[in-house]
Amino acid sequence: MSNQEIVSLGKQNYMSNYSQFPIAIRSGKGICLTDEDGKEYLDFVAGIAVNALGYGNEDEKKALLEVIESGVLHTSNLYYNSHAVHAAKMLNDLAGSEEVFFCNSGAEANEGALKMARKYGSSKGKSVIISFNHSFHGRTYGAVTVTGQEKYHKGFAPMLPSVVYADFNNLDSVKALADEHTAAIIVEPLQGEGGIIPAEKSFLEGLRVLADELDALLIFDEVQCGLGRTGKPFCFQHYGVEPDILTLAKALGGGLPMGAVLAFKRAKGIFSPGDHAATFGGNVASAALAEVVLSKLPDLSAEVERKGEYLGAKLRQIVSKHPSLCIEERGLGFMRGIELKISPRDVIAECMKNGLLVCSAGYTVLRFVPPLIASEENIDKAVAIVDEALTAFE
Ligand SMILES: Cc1ncc(COP(=O)(O)O)c(C=O)c1O
Repeated sequence: MSNQEIVSLGKQNYMSNYSQFPIAIRSGKGICLTDEDGKEYLDFVAGIAVNALGYGNEDEKKALLEVIESGVLHTSNLYYNSHAVHAAKMLNDLAGSEEVFFCNSGAEANEGALKMARKYGSSKGKSVIISFNHSFHGRTYGAVTVTGQEKYHKGFAPMLPSVVYADFNNLDSVKALADEHTAAIIVEPLQGEGGIIPAEKSFLEGLRVLADELDALLIFDEVQCGLGRTGKPFCFQHYGVEPDILTLAKALGGGLPMGAVLAFKRAKGIFSPGDHAATFGGNVASAALAEVVLSKLPDLSAEVERKGEYLGAKLRQIVSKHPSLCIEERGLGFMRGIELKISPRDVIAECMKNGLLVCSAGYTVLRFVPPLIASEENIDKAVAIVDEALTAFE
């Protein structure tokens, strides 16, 4: 079937909650994708910061084939499976956490973290969650409530009670809201959907001190910025500030749905049997791919740290070259953005025409989240296409 036939079948049968580009992806190799009409693209979207190892990775293929050969794709959490317990051990070793809960997505990981926070606070008379303006934590009710952007709440009231919003990178605004009723503070160390905005070191350090003073839990949402994307296995490792709870998803399952909630010292043992669950959590196939991704994470992160500097420098050159269209470059590692003065969607469409997939973050930022295996040569090619696209709008 052609792009057009698939797109029209989608339009006839899907709910209209997405504004999708009119192509359908057929196959991928390395960091390149091919659509149903045979057009090739360099992929700097990676399934929105998911496909860390790119497409057609041999180790992922082997791991998945072994799971298929075993005949067991899923067991439920009534029983253990070797892949999930190994993935949990690898996460705890890499992050310095003590326990892991597996689920299926970023929103679901944040729901788990919020329930942990409320349970932690329940015997202490605390239930208030402090979140941040411009944050994004997912679309389920708890996750969307702590998402500090009005556009995601519109039409869905009432939201979860006892959630308040402070300004990102403004510790005084947090202190103004914090008191003995605060159960948790949830924050992205590098805001993604809100526009690729990194936290300042003093801000995260201040949140850590405040959470300790209040006996509240500090939750870092690293669904997008975790797992090697910023050039360390976890983004918080750039800051030397450890959370009480860390949420992950996106890259974790190597392209299969998988999320995780990691508990550090103070948050250990909050859940008892029966408190929380997910039928598919720690699913055999997802966990087998997580083992592959996690085994490569230390080397991959080091590479991203180096290549991310290169990407950042190249994007800053673009900003300097097109001052009438660009405001600034921001980000860390392979999670970067250029704030534009024009709609990112038009630039994205122009890049797509020229064989590059990029996406937006918020209304003004052109986002670059390539597979972690992207090379300097890939970066040069992608940046040249963005340069050409911007030139078309001058
Ligand atoms: C920081 C952050 N948290 C949570 C989510 C929600 O993840 P999911 O779409 O897997 O529910 C996202 C998705 O973009 C995210 O960027």
